[in-house]
Formats: sequence, C-alpha cells, structure tokens
Amino acid sequence: MYLLELGGEDDAFAAREASSGAADVRRIAPGLAVAKAVAPERIRGLAYTHRASKLLGRTDADPASARALLETASIDREGTVAVRATDVHGSSGVDTGRAERELGQILVDRGFEVDLDDPDHVLRATFSEGALESGGGLEAGKATGDLFASEPDDTLEKTVSVCALGWLAAESVRDFGSRAPTDKPFFQPGSMDPLLARAVANVAGARPGATVLDPMCGTGGVLVEAGLVGADVVGTDAQAKMVAGARENLGHFLDSDELSSVGVERGEWHVARGDATRLPLADDAVDGVVFDAPYGRQSKIETHRLEDLVSGALSEACRVAPRAVVVADRSWAGEARAAGWELEAAFERRVHRSLTRYVLILERR
Ligand SMILES: C[S@@+](CC[C@H](N)C(=O)[O-])C[C@H]1O[C@@H](n2cnc3c(N)ncnc32)[C@H](O)[C@@H]1O
Repeated sequence: MYLLELGGEDDAFAAREASSGAADVRRIAPGLAVAKAVAPERIRGLAYTHRASKLLGRTDADPASARALLETASIDREGTVAVRATDVHGSSGVDTGRAERELGQILVDRGFEVDLDDPDHVLRATFSEGALESGGGLEAGKATGDLFASEPDDTLEKTVSVCALGWLAAESVRDFGSRAPTDKPFFQPGSMDPLLARAVANVAGARPGATVLDPMCGTGGVLVEAGLVGADVVGTDAQAKMVAGARENLGHFLDSDELSSVGVERGEWHVARGDATRLPLADDAVDGVVFDAPYGRQSKIETHRLEDLVSGALSEACRVAPRAVVVADRSWAGEARAAGWELEAAFERRVHRSLTRYVLILERR
C-alpha cells in the first residue's frame, strides 16, 4: 500500500489525476490518499500529487500514536534516515518539528543513523484532520472502498484524524512555475494554468506511447504538458495566429533530445489550422482528447454559435478517441451525452464570483 500526499484545493480531482499513475486510489483524510500500487515514473509527472510513499502504517493524528506506530512497525530498510513531517493544511495542530525529532529518535533507538542532508531513506509523517467528503460531483456516487462501504446509511462525510507514516518512494517534479502562461514565448489571455493543464492531460491518458489531441489548442498549454510527460501531441485551432503561437510554444518546450524534467523523452508534436467540428483525423486516430471550450466572452469563436461549436467538437472527439476531458465555464454534460459520451466523473470549482470551472471526464459509450 502507498500513501499519496495530494496538492491543490480539490482532493477528489487530485485523487482522480493520481489514478493515472496509481492503482485503486482512495482518499483517507484531507490531502491524503492511499493506493494499492504506484508507477514511480508516472508520479513524477503528476500535478496535484506531491509524493508517494510506501505506507508503514496509519493511526490517529497525534504524536503519541505516531510514536507507538513507529516503535512497533516492521522496518525492512538499511542505511541512513531522515524524518520529514507535515501537518496537512495546519489541520491537526501537531508540532511537526517536534514530531520529526521524536520519530527520528525512535529510528535511532532502532539502530538507524540519521542523515538530514542526504539520507538513504526519508520517512514521511503526515498528520491530517477534518471532514472527509466524497465530493467531486458524480465521483461521489462512485466512491468505493472500505471507508464508505462500511457506512450503509450513505453518510458521505465524516470527520477523520489520521497520521500516516511511509517511506518516500517518488516525488512529482515541481517545475510548473517555469511555464506560467505569461512567461511562454507566445501568450494570450485565457491560457490554461500549467498545473491544471498537466492534470487534465494526465487524466486524458498522456504518457509515453499515447497520442493526445487538443482540437482547440490555443497557445498549446495542454499539449506542452502532455508532451513533457512523453505523449505525442496533436493540436488544431481555428485561428492562424493561435496555430503559429502554439507551434512557437511547443517548439520551445518540446524540441529537445534531452529527457524532460520528469525523466522521459519529450513527445512529438503537430499543430495545424482546423475546425474542431470537422477534424482532419481518422476514426480512433488518438488515445485521448482534451479541450478547454471557449468561454464565449473571451475567445474568438470561429463561425459557430458556442453551443454548436461545443456539441460539434464533442461529436468529433468521440469519433477520434475513446476518452476525453473537457474544461469549461459550464457543464456541457447534456451535450456530451448527446454526442455519444458517458460521463465518468465531473468536477466543479468556483474560481471567483462570476466563474465556476467544470471538468468533465468522458468515456465513449
Ligand atoms: C479557451 S481557448 C483555449 C486555450 C488553451 N487551452 C490554452 O491554454 O491556450 C479556446 C480556443 O478555441 C479556438 N477555437 C474557437 N473556435 C474553434 C473551432 N471551431 N475550431 C478550432 N478551434 C476553435 C480559439 O481560437 C481558442 O484558441
């Protein structure tokens, strides 16, 4: 079993992204999840998971319980160690510096040498308290695992207090700041934040050997992130200016023989001018589609009413790929179903007073 430390504001969405690199992901407390298995090279490319650790055990979020857990846990490691503790969102009030020292002392008592600078093994000690919701739109209805299965009355929220200890196994690469939309060679308002772009690319199946399409690619934000985790990427946009700009950005971030920071070869890329409602692609040409539907007021909509554009793009996406992820300022779930998709999950987050962001995860029916 592995412990996942989630990031971002929406644990349900973070857990959904994590399942692109881990098996049987289940949330156990705010900011924390467990998984039956992880692919370390995929964890490196996740946006909303910071770390995966081999779970040593879990108990209540108080230092005495954590010490008792570590004193009795079976430890199959040799070499130097360091303990790093986190109080998720400051929720448990645990003094993390003290917890690190106390847990470190237990490891010393058990025969380990501490090396804070360059340890062979890092023990993560995570403390979290709070309401555990199964939230995340439709995913709520799908929540499974013993946590919810043990609640026959369907109570979907309960208060939990968790300390989970685990040996650090993989960390995600936090270099998103270097790809802020305004720092890219080509920038336009409405460009997607690289963290969200990476997450939706991962959910759509971006990985070495897969091909991901963004039929309304704009500045190429999603394609850059998909390419950096090793997917081959294809983009179209109705505006020549965007096609030229996306090419500039993709060339800048993906045209290098070096491994990307996540440790895989960068994917190949192609961008062409095209209409998302009439894609120049064969049936089943790609593995996943991602698009960020125009918000009506901010993006130029070429020749279509917004409703027709999104419906047409959803139909074409369903023809060329078995899976899609759609980001938008409204749900579009009805249009997605009408276009042949099944809604696997939907996430909704209020960004500010006049903007709620929807993320739909679609599987071909
Ligand atoms: C919200 S933007 C995408 C932003 C992009 N995700 C990014 O990070 O830059 C929507 C894009 O859809 C494009 N677009 C509008 N109508 C289109 C159509 N019929 N076919 C293809 N692209 C279209 C616009 O030119 C715009 O670049």
